[in-house]
Amino acid sequence: MPTVRSPSHSPLVDPFGRAITYLRVSVTDRCDFRCVYCMAEDMTFLPKRDVLSLEELDRLCSAFVDRGVRKLRLTGGEPLVRKNIMTLIANLSRHLGSGALDELTLTTNGSQLARHARELADHGVRRINVSVDTLDADKFRSITRWGELGKVMDGIRAAQAAGLEIKINAVALKGVNEHEFDDLIRWTHGEGMDLTLIETMPLGEIGDDRTDQYLPLSLVRSRLAEHWTLEDIPYKTGGPARYVRVAETGGRLGFITPLTHNFCEGCNRVRVTCTGTLFMCLGQEDAADLRAPLRASEGDELLQAAIEEAIARKPKGHDFVIDRTHRGPAVSRHMSVTGG
Ligand code: 5AD
Ligand code: SF4
Repeated sequence: MPTVRSPSHSPLVDPFGRAITYLRVSVTDRCDFRCVYCMAEDMTFLPKRDVLSLEELDRLCSAFVDRGVRKLRLTGGEPLVRKNIMTLIANLSRHLGSGALDELTLTTNGSQLARHARELADHGVRRINVSVDTLDADKFRSITRWGELGKVMDGIRAAQAAGLEIKINAVALKGVNEHEFDDLIRWTHGEGMDLTLIETMPLGEIGDDRTDQYLPLSLVRSRLAEHWTLEDIPYKTGGPARYVRVAETGGRLGFITPLTHNFCEGCNRVRVTCTGTLFMCLGQEDAADLRAPLRASEGDELLQAAIEEAIARKPKGHDFVIDRTHRGPAVSRHMSVTGG
């Protein structure tokens, strides 16, 4: 007999028939780096009272899990700089135990990973994304403004030792790391890690001209294809990357190309900021406040109603453009607000 589910626990499906099964949650807007494509050097961060408590974040995530979200990614800012973040991760891991969630993961800059890797693995995290745009320590410092590559490498080693699968994210930056992709491929694949290249997205004022940074991945791919054999593979992680296998290394290489190739048709995800603002699309301004309904009552009825109402407005897609007539951001918030 088919089971009849009560309406409040029915899956979330948007107006274009896309089921929302993937939630990304930014647990803090703060970061110990200031990557040039992500933040301005002097960022003003949110006052504490505006930020959801760890308990509120748990309630919020769990409300989405109740509605069919199967994959949860914690991002930031840098998620591991949030005080007591391991408490949230430990609590959320109950949804892995119950089978409600397939995956609990995070995107990190790796700076604090060495001391957290073991505990992440203990709480059921199996894979993580770590951002490394260059293997040159000086260049790393100039991209992140404050970061130390050595610490990130220590973190990656600790994560490997803890048995975590690692995907390295590198943002492709014209004139900065564009001649390093061969080295990044050799290093990641040599270490059994996936590599994903990302086009810069026009999010937030960064104090620089983005046309100077933008490097289309279509160009990168054709350059790589001159000396690597790239075979299209159907591998999917639930995210927007398209993967190839590099025949010479046997490793996977992903391309995230919001500008040269629009990936919206298969979008299964939404994002929540650390203040409880739900963004239905990374590239659009429309958002819904979930903090007020979350704080208004102990039960989740108001929260669920607000979520439903918001998903019913999920737009068809983004319209990012970077060219000479569009030098500014497409949306005013930074990546550190909505998370990567
Ligand atoms: N465009 C593309 N990628 C970005 N990231 C941060 N800001 C941007 C941007 N404007 C990347 C980070 C990290 C991932 C979460 O997003 O480097 O790898
Ligand atoms: Fe921090 Fe990541 Fe933004 Fe760099 S890209 S400043 S590591 S949040």
